[in-house]
Amino acid sequence: MKVTIVVAGLAILTTAALGQNAPSADTGKVVFDKWCTPCHGAVAPAGGLGDGALPGTSALRVKYNGELPAVLEERTDLAPEFIETVVRGGLFGMPITRKTEVSDSELEDIIAYLTRSNN
Ligand code: HEC
Repeated sequence: MKVTIVVAGLAILTTAALGQNAPSADTGKVVFDKWCTPCHGAVAPAGGLGDGALPGTSALRVKYNGELPAVLEERTDLAPEFIETVVRGGLFGMPITRKTEVSDSELEDIIAYLTRSNN
């Protein structure tokens, strides 16, 4: 009897923990806005230097020359592994993002957000 109760309790705790850790596109949007939008946004901040003030968006506009959206959030082709590799390892003008800045679980949330409309 006692054992059954303990096992049932553990099952509930485990479910709760897993629920909290499931990647969330909504949380990903919040993390993305903080850490990625300054370079990858659609619109440069008012009073700034225009499009050139968005290094990510302007670099991707040149890189894909209209074949893919320059704004990262409009892409539907980004593979989770690619996003993770670029965020942790950097890519040309893009700096690495440390785990003390964006944790692994926050990166999972960003990936859930950026792949939400993938084909
Ligand atoms: C300091 C500016 C900056 C920040 C902050 C930044 N990026 Fe980037 N990112 C860039 C630049 C510049 C490139 C283009 C690299 C190149 O020339 O290929 C890029 C490229 C990328 C690419 C590759 C896209 C492709 O098709 O080649 C991904 C994915 C990406 N960034 C994701 C992110 C995510 C997610 C974040 C937030 C955690 C982020 N970036 C934050 C500047 C930035």
